[in-house]
Amino acid sequence: MAYLCRYSFSKQPNTVEEKIIDESRQGEYFMAPDPSGVRPTTGRKLLLESYGCQMNFSDSEIVASILAGEGYSTTRDPEEADLVLLNTCAIRDNAEQRIRGRLDYLRSIKRRKPHLTVGVLGCMAERLREKLLEEEKLVDLVVGPDAYRDLPNLINRVEDGQKAVNVLLSREETYAEIAPLRLDTNGVTAFISIMRGCDNMCSFCVVPFTRGRERSRDPESIVREAQQLFEAGYREVTLLGQNVDSYKWKGGNQDGDILVNFAQLLEKVARVHPRLRVRFSTSHPKDMTDEVLHTMARHDNICKYIHLPVQSGNSDVLKRMNRGYSRGWYLDRIAAIRRIMPTCAISTDIITGFCGETEEEHQDTLSLMNEVQYDMAFMFKYSERPKTLAERKFEDDVPEEVKGRRLQQVIEAQMKSAAQRTKLYVGYDQEVLIEGTSKKSQEHFQGRNTQNVVVVFPKQEGLKPGDYVRVHTYGCTSVTLLGEYVATVS
Ligand code: SAH
Ligand code: SF4
Ligand code: F3S
Repeated sequence: MAYLCRYSFSKQPNTVEEKIIDESRQGEYFMAPDPSGVRPTTGRKLLLESYGCQMNFSDSEIVASILAGEGYSTTRDPEEADLVLLNTCAIRDNAEQRIRGRLDYLRSIKRRKPHLTVGVLGCMAERLREKLLEEEKLVDLVVGPDAYRDLPNLINRVEDGQKAVNVLLSREETYAEIAPLRLDTNGVTAFISIMRGCDNMCSFCVVPFTRGRERSRDPESIVREAQQLFEAGYREVTLLGQNVDSYKWKGGNQDGDILVNFAQLLEKVARVHPRLRVRFSTSHPKDMTDEVLHTMARHDNICKYIHLPVQSGNSDVLKRMNRGYSRGWYLDRIAAIRRIMPTCAISTDIITGFCGETEEEHQDTLSLMNEVQYDMAFMFKYSERPKTLAERKFEDDVPEEVKGRRLQQVIEAQMKSAAQRTKLYVGYDQEVLIEGTSKKSQEHFQGRNTQNVVVVFPKQEGLKPGDYVRVHTYGCTSVTLLGEYVATVS
């Protein structure tokens, strides 16, 4: 799953890793906007901040919906808030350090406003549990990803002067029937969570511990959500799961037969409307089937873009990572994508300096990148996480500076490949879904082509976000296409 970091304290990213994250998803800030005003409010104000992956951002929309039902309205200003909730990430140590920094800042506000309630939600809450209350004295509330329905009750407990914790993980919870309150929305693109948890045990990864067992959401509720979004003017949905290829609906009976698999779900969502674009994340190389690829090829509105994290280009490292595939298997999956959808864009995640990674093994990652020519990549230094298989079995023995140097080489390889890939689109017409005004110029719109490349072009009378247009591209930066409007696509 692509990793978002929408909150940063300094304008300049501190590490190369952060820079890559920031550049790949602009937008630094995420806070809940004021709701429409139709709901009764109690005058209490909520500030909700999200960190980490798209799943967390999607969960925040569930949390906002639950608390709107309790009469909370939202604010962007911590000084004005009665309740601050941080929806946190635990994937790497630096993700947690960032939250600690934010808690330090909130401490200074709480000194002046003793009645401010501070809660930690999400993966760091699940990982640290009660320990978080001991370590961070200002935190009143600790709530894991499967316990959000309990929030009103837990908040009441805090108001009665107690600290409140619920970190129970569930084997069933999918929040299927809670209508998310869309936050920070452009009104065009939205996330739909299709499953929760993860049953893979990649040895470096904390997610199975923080998100619990994998479970799939009822396909009817997914299709209904997509229909409602389309009716509300949205034109693109991204189906979210840690491993979408293992989506399986068994009619609510965990032991039953698979009634709907991911390819079939994709087809159902694609049929909602030909003008509703469908994206998804994340695909897993060990589970991605040709059936999914053929379904994508059959439907123009399923975007030709696959995020297929490789992590490493060396089979021995992949084995230590417990990823369940080899280099050869991964390259076969890439070949299948290129065969079935020659124009499909491919992105990935890479970890450098995993336990025992030798120079030769690292070179295999560079050679794989060279072979695949990724359109985009999220790249990280290995960060050891407590309780994971790798922490228990292997030594985190690659020195920090070697991890850093390897990361730098991986980033350089990726920058070259991305620039090459972007150039491929120059000189052609692209179908673009307009998402809004360009971040850099009020006079330009920005949108994406099916391959997820950002396209910027001058605004035209009568065009608005949510419209599909044909744009002729005449140039590019390393990751953005520049073009001219040609026609509106009805
Ligand atoms: N479910 C997704 C990944 C979710 S985590 C998948 O299987 O691909 C997003 C990315 O964070 C991972 O793909 C991996 O590249 C990175 N990551 C996870 N744990 C990490 C760790 N301990 N250190 C560094 N990077 C890590
Ligand atoms: Fe983590 Fe692996 Fe699950 Fe992805 S598939 S969330 S990397 S355990
Ligand atoms: Fe996502 Fe971070 Fe949790 S990547 S699943 S928010 S550990």
